Amino acid sequence: MQDELERKREELLALVDEAADSAALERMRVRLLGKKGEVTLLLRRIGEVPPEERPAYGRLVNALKAEVEERLQRRAEELARAEEEARLAAEVLDVSLPGRLPALGTRHPLTLVLDEIKEVFLELGFAVAEGPEVEWDYYNFEALNIPRDHPAREMHDSLYITPEILLRTHTSPVQVRTMERQAPELPVRIIAPGRVYRRDALDATHSPIFHQVEGLVVDRGISFADLKGTLVHFARRLLGAERKVRFRPSYFPFTEPSSEVDISCPICRGEGCRVCGETGWLEILGAGLVHPNVLRMARYDPEEVSGFAFGLGVERIAMLKYGIDDIRLFYENDLRFLEQFRRG
Ligand code: PHE
Repeated sequence: MQDELERKREELLALVDEAADSAALERMRVRLLGKKGEVTLLLRRIGEVPPEERPAYGRLVNALKAEVEERLQRRAEELARAEEEARLAAEVLDVSLPGRLPALGTRHPLTLVLDEIKEVFLELGFAVAEGPEVEWDYYNFEALNIPRDHPAREMHDSLYITPEILLRTHTSPVQVRTMERQAPELPVRIIAPGRVYRRDALDATHSPIFHQVEGLVVDRGISFADLKGTLVHFARRLLGAERKVRFRPSYFPFTEPSSEVDISCPICRGEGCRVCGETGWLEILGAGLVHPNVLRMARYDPEEVSGFAFGLGVERIAMLKYGIDDIRLFYENDLRFLEQFRRG
């Protein structure tokens, strides 16, 4: 009987060790210790054992039961540990996996050029001034010596909000606003970058909305030589030291004398090409000495002070600098275009 129990013991303990996961182990626990479990039946069978053997039988079976319980407990712990490890291994986060980079924006080519333009003038001691894009007729025209019936208004047709208020057609009204604020204080030395509006169809070289940078210097004894020196320095600093600069007589109601300023074409270096219309020169800005009427209206005495002013087109300069042949590219926000200006 003892041998039989010993065999049984080994068999049952081996069964416990065979349970491959918690669920199988639970099934095994029922099979061994449940109401009709093998160990339970062994205990019940004590009645069939001859009375003198019962104490020994009882001891052996109880010991067997304790051992089976202990083995079940140990196997449960083993399996729990293994299952936890498997779960952790499956959940592992691979921190060496390259992350997803957020899409980084780039500065717009017009902003890049504008920043460079500002830098050149800030180095020369200019300050940056601003004015509204929705402007009084008075500042856009009247105070710039362009009275109501003046033919120059025709080149500056714009969107009127009321008969007295319009989208500014140039940055020149900031000249007047700055002088009004500062007079009679000297010197005035500002640039005024900003957006301007004109009645123009959108094509490769025109846009009804574009950007200008105005410049204004007022002081005692300012001459055309100061204007030339400033603009030649600017053109060479921005577009290359070998640039030639040409001043052509022109007309603006708010400057006298007036001039249009050309630079030697950076594409063909003055030889003549498609971009410069075979002339070797490209117009980049309008300029002149501030008209006495304008100084007077802004409360400066033209007998005492003089000044120069200029207005340049930012798109124009950006197109030259980057070799862009269609102004519409600046406004379409096509990433294939914009990403070419990524720096660093
Ligand atoms: N405001 C003029 C334009 O838009 C440019 C200009 C500015 C000319 C200052 C002379 C002086 O055409």
